Amino acid sequence: MIKLKLNGVSKAYGATKALSHADLEIEAGEVHVLLGSNGSGKSTLSKIVAGSVRPDAGEILLDGKPVTITGPQSARSHGIAIFYQELSLAAHRTVAENISLASLPSRAGIFVDGDALEERAQRYMALFDGVTGDGFSLDAVIEDLRADQRQLVEIIKALAIEASVIIFDEATSALDRAQVERFFEILRALKQKGRSIIFISHRMDEIFAIGDRATVIRDGQIVGTKRIADTSPSEIITMMVGGHDETDAKAVEHHAPTGAAALALSVKNLGGRGFGDVSFDVRKGEILGFGGLHGQGQSAVLKALFGAAPPTSGSVELDGKPLNPANPRAMIRQGVAYVSGDRAREGVVTGRPILENVMPIHYLRDRMILAHPPASARKALPALQALRTKFAGLGFPISSLSGGNQQKVVIARWLIDRPAVLLLDDPTKGIDLSAKADLFALIRKLAEEGMGIVLYASEDAELLDNADRILVFNGGAVRRELTGTARTRYNLYQAAYEAA
Ligand SMILES: Nc1ncnc2c1ncn2[C@@H]1O[C@H](COP(=O)(O)OP(=O)(O)O)[C@@H](O)[C@H]1O
Ligand SMILES: [Mg+2]
Repeated sequence: MIKLKLNGVSKAYGATKALSHADLEIEAGEVHVLLGSNGSGKSTLSKIVAGSVRPDAGEILLDGKPVTITGPQSARSHGIAIFYQELSLAAHRTVAENISLASLPSRAGIFVDGDALEERAQRYMALFDGVTGDGFSLDAVIEDLRADQRQLVEIIKALAIEASVIIFDEATSALDRAQVERFFEILRALKQKGRSIIFISHRMDEIFAIGDRATVIRDGQIVGTKRIADTSPSEIITMMVGGHDETDAKAVEHHAPTGAAALALSVKNLGGRGFGDVSFDVRKGEILGFGGLHGQGQSAVLKALFGAAPPTSGSVELDGKPLNPANPRAMIRQGVAYVSGDRAREGVVTGRPILENVMPIHYLRDRMILAHPPASARKALPALQALRTKFAGLGFPISSLSGGNQQKVVIARWLIDRPAVLLLDDPTKGIDLSAKADLFALIRKLAEEGMGIVLYASEDAELLDNADRILVFNGGAVRRELTGTARTRYNLYQAAYEAA
């Protein structure tokens, strides 16, 4: 029996077609896996069904009848629940409050039985008894919990809604093996009750353990659906890639510096939180890519090299000299720069003028104490103009700029300073296509001027188009190095999607 059906559902963000004419059928009592590389449209599809994103076109049917899902409450009243990839927890509230908030009745005037809500939260918590780890209880505050425990709360929150369609968007990415096993037992029990589960994961072992059918999405389009029993990991990877792609590797070939180019950075057996035994060299003039699924240690390594979360083992050399990544200030002085795509947290100083956002690192490096606007403006303007940043004046607040232009401002800092090594931690996250093209052109120019660049990009296409060499991370370690013509989508996916 078909529980949920999507007919021609589309959604665009500006020029990005996040989802194009998606047709999909989910049966009652099945675990339906959605698969696709980063940025292929899985979360967009999930959010449309769950009511947090409105589609541009198409229709959704439940039990054969068209429904209009106007928002998350409306989705819940239709019996649809979701685990959000980015989580939807209130950080300062307790576990119990977070679980209960979502399951409150949606109509006004209904008497809320607090004890019943608490009893329900307790009952769903108990499903994970023995695998939650220390400090996990109904009255624990979310911000005090570990990443895996927060994911468990988000899972419990979705389960407690007792919906007939439940979407899990990368619900297992921070869980350990025992937690995943328990979660799968719960999913199997839900299947028995005829519930429909949409399950998104990148782990082939998980997909083959829990899935009944799998649908592959590529670039916002549904490629096809297979019964898990009739397919294989290599067939699925081929569907994700879209056939053979030997030509991929040619795009940036002419850029790669010669093997004889001097080393900018040399990293040996680096270890820290979330990664271990990572070794690599970056040559001057080279863009070294970090690839693989999100959260496999790429950002952690970059933050460690910048001294933001210092490494616990291993050694680093900059320009042939030993380097101790103790803190960001020391690293900036020695010529190591870091730019994160997470501007809200690590990039711009919101509310401050554009000029100050271009300059602070520069001040730090030269130990300038007094601000000297005319001199700073002279340095900042050409750098910003080189990036074609649209701004009304250097005195305007940075928040007056679009995301793409904010990120250009952040990168413009390094045009002024010229570090020896530039660490880019998913720098284009959430910025538009033309700003992306400008940024990558700039990054290539910085490399050509002799900088050593490490680029982690969560979108595989960005990596294949821009990196000279790619290290594929999986489970906190480098699993594979892709060079020259081996730098293909297929090889990248295969190394990334294998069970670590
Ligand atoms: N709120 C948004 N604003 C702009 N672009 C977005 C937004 N959400 C998603 N996108 C873009 O839509 C595409 C699909 O994203 P998403 O559905 O999150 O993919 P997936 O979950 O498969 O990784 C990507 O190119 C992404 O950058
Ligand atoms: Mg997603």
